[in-house]
Amino acid sequence: MKRTKHLRLGFFIGLITISFNATSQTNAKESKMRGQGIYDTNCVTCHMANGEGITGAFPPLAKSDYLMADTERSIKTILEGANGAMKVNGTTYYGAMVAYNTLTDQDIADVLNYIRNSWGNEGDVIEAKAVAKLRQ
Ligand code: HEC
Repeated sequence: MKRTKHLRLGFFIGLITISFNATSQTNAKESKMRGQGIYDTNCVTCHMANGEGITGAFPPLAKSDYLMADTERSIKTILEGANGAMKVNGTTYYGAMVAYNTLTDQDIADVLNYIRNSWGNEGDVIEAKAVAKLRQ
């Protein structure tokens, strides 16, 4: 009797774990898909469809050491914009990027999930609440 109960409990925990993983994977995929739309509307003119930017003018996002090194900094770059010297993949940029603080927390998480998981990049999922925390 007791044994059956344990088995059942184990079964349910297993089910919950499986469905939880499936949900977070779907969310990551959906976030990335929404992010592509945001990218195509707001970012593609400078950083280009292949994420390679324009050397000397607009830094690459594809395989960008700068992008992948620091998630908080990436969130802030989009929230607050960026200017001044920035070294990306060995090239120093002195450009300026406007702030995209009119995008929602979810939009910013989505666009980051897109650029951090495209063109050979592989990064952890960024949640909207991480953006909310850094928005002032
Ligand atoms: C008008 C051109 C322009 C647009 C549009 C633009 N950026 Fe940028 N972006 C830049 C420039 C220029 C820099 C480098 C700024 C510097 O030199 O300090 C930059 C830097 C970055 C960086 C950090 C450097 C790197 O390559 O990893 C990220 C990440 C980034 N942009 C993402 C975005 C995202 C996401 C969008 C759309 C929401 C966007 N940018 C839209 C011009 C642009």
